[in-house]
Amino acid sequence: MTTPQLIFSFTILFLHLIFPFPLTDANCPVAPSCGPGTPTVRFPFRLRDTQSTRCGYPGFDLICNNQTQTLTLNIPNAGNFTVNDIDYELQAVHVGDPGLCLAQRFLQTFNLSASPFSPVFTVNFGFFNCSENIPLFSGTFQAMCLSRDNFTVLMTPTGFSSYATLSSLCQLIGNRSVPGPWTSWPGMGGSVQLIWNQPDCRSCEESGGACGFMSSSGLEIGCTNLPSNGPPRSIKYGLIIGVGIPGVLCLIGLGCYFGSKVKMYDQRRNTITELPNTIVSQRDVVICGLNKFTIDSYPKTLLGESKRLPEPNQNLCSICLSEYQPKEILKTIPECNHYFHIDCIDEWLRVKGTCPLCRNSPQQNFNELSPSTLSSSSSTSFSASS
Ligand SMILES: *[C@@H]1O[C@H](CO)[C@@H](O)[C@H](O)[C@H]1NC(C)=O
Ligand SMILES: *[C@@H]1O[C@H](CO)[C@@H](O)[C@H](O)[C@H]1NC(C)=O
Repeated sequence: MTTPQLIFSFTILFLHLIFPFPLTDANCPVAPSCGPGTPTVRFPFRLRDTQSTRCGYPGFDLICNNQTQTLTLNIPNAGNFTVNDIDYELQAVHVGDPGLCLAQRFLQTFNLSASPFSPVFTVNFGFFNCSENIPLFSGTFQAMCLSRDNFTVLMTPTGFSSYATLSSLCQLIGNRSVPGPWTSWPGMGGSVQLIWNQPDCRSCEESGGACGFMSSSGLEIGCTNLPSNGPPRSIKYGLIIGVGIPGVLCLIGLGCYFGSKVKMYDQRRNTITELPNTIVSQRDVVICGLNKFTIDSYPKTLLGESKRLPEPNQNLCSICLSEYQPKEILKTIPECNHYFHIDCIDEWLRVKGTCPLCRNSPQQNFNELSPSTLSSSSSTSFSASS
């Protein structure tokens, strides 16, 4: 090492002791977009071919296919999935099948045990091969992409009475644990939502910080660039240059202070890594379930004979996964306009406080109970399959 290099290294080291920031921060610029509509890629995800391994957490490697402009996630033992959306705050990823047949993926193998991802919930389904053209009835869904001209593949939850009916009419292909929420029911493609808990960057994302590894080795993560916490990045880099030259003069005295500075560095690191936990616990308290006033104030809809809904693709309650029947009462979350059985969504919101489909957290309403509206629908067509 030449003398200027040595001095520069010492200056960086000195500044790192005062303003600890992840070494990877500077080495992991925002990943280039994979194409229009593809989600942005940042920690814990990384683009395998263009970013260093320290830019992402193990198990979160993505591959960008420049021709099809799709992001692909490889899940060990489960295969490749198209990444449709990443919600960094909720730590949820929406994946689809590159062949547009998630039903087939669930029927084959869908084993997440070797990955950091898990489904929000699972439902046990029986897959049936029906040679005759059996009309869809309550609780059954057609896996369009698995069906052909001379046979139809129907699915029904194993606990439903329709399971016994289908068993007598069709051939059972197999029972599978199917992850949910799986959107675009009862179609073939769509996407399924998976969540991850490790690494936990939720509080950092919420407070607008940058999550990343704290050092060049190990899996310890931290949060930097918090808007209200410490100097912004530009000032940090300004300081590196501005203090660099005067820093040379300090080098002589530096040795004496090393012992105490290292101690201070450890203390600061601890402060930074402890921060996420405190924010997480506050957040859990805030969004844990909605109050009764809020839940009771949501609009209800009485289904007519034709079961017509304003959202034509929602013919199935994604909580209990059963199809809506005439004369049933549905409830809507006004913020996102998603429909559910009234009993299902009431129980869900009491516990979870978020929409099961889009995971939005509706506003709490602390006013007195407002009389809820009960509208009825009675127009013509609401088709059961897409
Ligand atoms: C369903 O059964 C037919 C024969 O009846 C067979 O040709 C077809 O491959 C089966 N489909 C599936 C998905 O098992
Ligand atoms: C179903 O149709 C396919 C062609 O679409 C044919 O190869 C197969 O033999 C048919 N199976 C039965 C049981 O008719």
